[in-house]
Parts: sequence; C-alpha cells; structure tokens
Amino acid sequence: MTDRYCVFGNPISHSKSPAIHTAFAQQTGEDIEYVAIVAPLDDFAGAWRGFTAEGGRGANVTVPFKEEAFRLCDVLSERARRAGAVNTLLLGKNGLSHDFKVYGDTTDGVGLVRDLQYHKVALGGARILVLGAGGAVRGVLEPLLAAGPASLTIANRTASKAEALAADFSDMGAISGGGFDTVTGPFDLVINGTSASLAGDLPPLPDDLFAAGATAYDMMYGAESTVFLRWASERGACPLDGLGMLVEQAAESFFQWRSKRPDTVPVREALRRSL
Ligand code: ATR
Repeated sequence: MTDRYCVFGNPISHSKSPAIHTAFAQQTGEDIEYVAIVAPLDDFAGAWRGFTAEGGRGANVTVPFKEEAFRLCDVLSERARRAGAVNTLLLGKNGLSHDFKVYGDTTDGVGLVRDLQYHKVALGGARILVLGAGGAVRGVLEPLLAAGPASLTIANRTASKAEALAADFSDMGAISGGGFDTVTGPFDLVINGTSASLAGDLPPLPDDLFAAGATAYDMMYGAESTVFLRWASERGACPLDGLGMLVEQAAESFFQWRSKRPDTVPVREALRRSL
C-alpha cells in the first residue's frame, strides 16, 4: 500500500520538497506519495490531524508552523528539543501499527552539516561566525556545535537575542553572542542565517572577516542569497548557497520515515539544473 507524506506550510506552492522526496522514493523503490499542503494559519494542528486520519504517516513542516509542530509532539529528538522547533513529524515508529504517538525531529542542522561535509568544509577546530539569531539559526546550532568547532560566534542586529541564544547552548562548547559591531575576525566559516537577503540587505560587517581559504555559506539558495555571497566572494571567501542543505535535510527526514538513506548527489544536481 502506498504510504502518504506531505509538507505543510503557508504559503507552500513553490516548495521543492515534493520533487525531492519523489526522486528519493523512485531511487530507493519506496512506495510513497508526497504532496504539498497549505495549512490554515490558525489551525495547523487540525490540518495534521486531518492528514493522519486519512492515512498520512509523516510530514515535513515549514514556515510558519515549525514551533506549533513542536508543541503537538508526544516525543522529541534531543536536537528538536534544543531547537524548540520541528520540521519532521512521524506518526508511530518502526512501522508499529499500534503506536499512535507523534514523533518530532528537526533535520535542518544535520542537513547543513552534511552539506558542509559534502563540500569538504572542515568544522572540527574551525572558527565559525553565524549571522542571525532567529528560528532558522536556533534550529542548526546543536549539530554545528556537536561537530566540534574551536569557537562559534553569533552576531545579530538585536544583540540581546544573540546573547540569549549563546547562553542557551553554552553547555555545548565555546559559544558567544552579540551585535554586529562586536564581531572581530578572522573566521574560517561565516554562515548567514538572517532573512536580510530577502530584503536585499546585508548585515553591517567588517571587511576583514575571512581567514585565508574561508567559506561563506547562505542558508538561503538561488538568487535571494547573492547579496551576502557576492559581498563575501569579493572579500576572498568561497561562496556556497543552501541548496545542498535543502536536499540533505530532506534525505534525513526520508531516513526517519523509511530507514533508507537516499543518494543525494543526483538529486542535488537535478535541482541545481532546474533553478
Ligand atoms: P527565521 O525563522 O528565518 O530565523 P526570524 O526568527 O524572524 O526568522 O529571524 C530573522 C533573523 O533575521 C533575525 O536574526 C533578524 O534580526 P533581529 O533579531 O534583529 O530581528 C534577522 N534580520 C531580518 N532582517 C534583517 C536585516 N535587514 N538586517 C539584519 N538582520 C536582519
């Protein structure tokens, strides 16, 4: 029987997740259907209940429902608990038909780390700067810190949010937070997790941010990310956008649902060609 999965968001029409998961299913021979569903802004829980009542087994969750999805879970992974948000829901585990618990995970951070590994960016011992202190950044800090950087600095327009976020993760390593004006390089890796690029803005940053051979990563992909990445390339950093992170987080969700790891390389390449 075909198992049903979906991605919930609002809006959701431009989501690439159906194409990615359909490619994973074809590649692994898993019999699944994956669609995009617009959930009403005031009733995400109702949309999830309706989907599972009709046989839905699991879902991805995107803007603006990740925190609400977190609240409806019965069981959370450690990384989801620390993120305070969930992008992967699973009804029951290990195919147990009597298990109706809702399991929640967040795969964004592991997706980011795997994409950096794919591009051979060393994380162990690296000096990392993360720009932004919103939900997108909170969601990736646990796997980034677990990779063992020498230091992780969070810089944000609202300094107090960066300070609070650093305090929440201080048990995991050398992490600090502050405003953009407190940033002093050099860094081996600078990750843009602000939504500034959407408005064509660039956080105010010093020119001497990058160490020799540094990488600049934008968690967004495509044209929106070019403001930060163009600025970084002009200062000698190697630019990477978030397309690989999108594919890798999807692969980790797929693994949570089906216990099979798809080969992400052909899916990355097809998606890049389609942009
Ligand atoms: P997301 O879920 O994408 O993280 P969010 O929680 O609203 O969304 O966080 C947006 C992040 O982008 C915040 O760090 C925000 O800075 P503030 O905390 O000071 O609001 C940052 N951001 C948004 N627009 C920005 C801009 N034009 N310049 C710099 N930072 C910006």
